[in-house]
Amino acid sequence: MSFPAFRSRRLRRTEALRRLSQEVELSPRHLIAPLFVKEGIPEPVPIPSLPGQVQHTRSSLVEEVGELVELGVGGVILFGIPARKDAVGSGAWDDEGVVQRALRALRSEFGDRAVLMADLCLCEYTDHGHCGVLAEGPDTVDNDRTLELYGRIAASQARAGADVIAPSGVMDGQVAAIRRALDGAGFSQVVILSYAAKFASTFYGPFRDAAESAPRFGHRRAYQLAPANLRAALRRVEEELAEGADAVMVKPALPYLDVVRAVRERWQVPVAAYCVSGEYAMLHAAAQRGWLDLESAMMEVLLAIRRAGADWILTYFAKDAAWLLR
Ligand code: PBG
Repeated sequence: MSFPAFRSRRLRRTEALRRLSQEVELSPRHLIAPLFVKEGIPEPVPIPSLPGQVQHTRSSLVEEVGELVELGVGGVILFGIPARKDAVGSGAWDDEGVVQRALRALRSEFGDRAVLMADLCLCEYTDHGHCGVLAEGPDTVDNDRTLELYGRIAASQARAGADVIAPSGVMDGQVAAIRRALDGAGFSQVVILSYAAKFASTFYGPFRDAAESAPRFGHRRAYQLAPANLRAALRRVEEELAEGADAVMVKPALPYLDVVRAVRERWQVPVAAYCVSGEYAMLHAAAQRGWLDLESAMMEVLLAIRRAGADWILTYFAKDAAWLLR
């Protein structure tokens, strides 16, 4: 017998054999595009730290979603930037708010052909930039008072036509509060995709420019998860599933693929991974310098996130990747 007996290269010899042997697939339907819509701007505003991404007007948003639907992406998730902010973020539950008006426009344009998700948080709507109402003392955000507001936001987003509500504020009890509010308002069919394993990450930097949501003081480490802690993340996923989350998210993606894998192995629900703004920005920055090939780096990253176990990938690469996969 020849040596070695096991030759793994046999299955990699030709392109056709490599195609036959591929274990996971990446399709446009796996991708969810995060989109920013801003009130009161006459035309789209480019976001310097997210090359190719813009703050949309309502009409440019409709156009963009049309292209994404055409390319077969799985869905879009909306982030709103209101004209005015206040201490409690009241713009977030205004039925005439920026996201609500955008949802209605999209729903009337695309009917049920587009899956419309709404990020649910207060940081874009509060003048201090935290994800809830402020409390006295070092723990900055008052968890329980914030829950009541999250319920109002959820009902308002559902009235405007959201298929999926995605709470990203990492408040305890948020899923139960939102489920109760939705059911109470007659929206028992609306899905909750919870940002259950959302880590306090430096990689959110460019997003905070895009969404104009950086905290004016302090940080989010008293509510978002500690990057070192896998067990704490799993505990939180367990809890939010018990509260009624239909699907859960891990965020960011690349530095936390072990968390994606662990969640995938433990629970039989759709698992989303959010490849965040900083992950997108760093690939673009390296590519701009000629240090990486952007297209192949993008596809490798997205496929790796699928391999780790994500069903859905929220990514600013959604349109470019869907275009290549079409
Ligand atoms: C709001 C929110 C953030 C992101 C999604 N929702 C920012 C934050 O928590 O500071 C980050 C997304 C990204 O970086 O692409 N709570």
